[in-house]
Amino acid sequence: MMRRLQFLTAFFLLALHVLSPSSMAVAQLRRDYYADVCPNLESIVRDAVRQNVEHSPVAAPATLRLFFHDCAVRGCDASIMLINPDGDDEWRSPDGMTLKPEGFNTVMSAKAAVDSDPQCRSRVSCADILALAARDSVFLSGGPDYQVELGRFDGRVSTVGSVLIPHGTFNLDQLNAFFSGLGLSQTDMIALSGGHTIGAASCGFFGNRMGGDAAMDPAFADQLRGSCPGASAAGFAFLDATTPLQFDNEYYRSLRAGRGLLASDQALYADPRSRGAVDRYADDQGAFFRDFAAAMTRLGRVGVRTAADGEVRRDCRFPN
Ligand code: HEM
Repeated sequence: MMRRLQFLTAFFLLALHVLSPSSMAVAQLRRDYYADVCPNLESIVRDAVRQNVEHSPVAAPATLRLFFHDCAVRGCDASIMLINPDGDDEWRSPDGMTLKPEGFNTVMSAKAAVDSDPQCRSRVSCADILALAARDSVFLSGGPDYQVELGRFDGRVSTVGSVLIPHGTFNLDQLNAFFSGLGLSQTDMIALSGGHTIGAASCGFFGNRMGGDAAMDPAFADQLRGSCPGASAAGFAFLDATTPLQFDNEYYRSLRAGRGLLASDQALYADPRSRGAVDRYADDQGAFFRDFAAAMTRLGRVGVRTAADGEVRRDCRFPN
């Protein structure tokens, strides 16, 4: 009887593991997934991203943010790239509309470069090209050169209604609730927020902070008012004012100095539950790089599709 019970328990656990869609999807991700069909994939994508980054300083931050917005909505399936004829798609949601064209263009040009190699043509998913392009954007800005897991399939669905993205007004509890919904920890969230070491935000995202507050460096408040004269929403400010194009740990040092741009950034230092991690990354860039790479890898596993519920899109903008 006991043996029968043990067998049934073991069988049940095995079945649960094998049948669970997320474990199936994650199991298929491998660093060498395209080694046979497209052996030069990594260098092709990196060269394409390099050209975009050399052409425009916006390309790297825009591509990194695009990857986050892709994975956070319906998983990392390049649904953010889809264009639906009826206009009901992620990128035309209020949050999606703030994504810069340079990010989309970077992925499109990397896809064109991959497909210009006859071996690779139509073999590599847009979701994987986006994951590689995000890593290359980080690396080419001075950040870590981590290995990217590959083998994601592209989704076929994109709707305005599915877009739920954290806002710059979020406090720590709201940030944690959002990231735990993706299966990510508070430490992952703090490390990923370090993505704000590059790029900018429009005045509309921090206009409510321009009067300054007790935690804000008064000189920084002056600087912000200068970036958005007359409280105009047209201007912008860098998320890391010290080294806005360099992927480094200055973002965390800025938070410590009361120079966080978004309320959600400054909340990481204001709240004693997350301050320790901010201090650690501010003091130790190597620790930030290691945790960022690990958190990007975990972000890249969210909602991954398989051949059963996805495809390798020929054109990243449309389902096949
Ligand atoms: C923690 C929650 C997050 C919030 C509340 C948040 C919010 C924002 C906001 C409001 C902007 C400015 C958008 C604009 O002006 O159009 C922005 C920009 C940006 N975000 Fe985040 N974000 C978060 C997490 C992330 C993550 C996880 C990454 C990537 C790892 C990321 C990467 C970026 C980048 C690179 C930019 C600059 C984009 C550019 O210059 O084009 N963000 N974010």
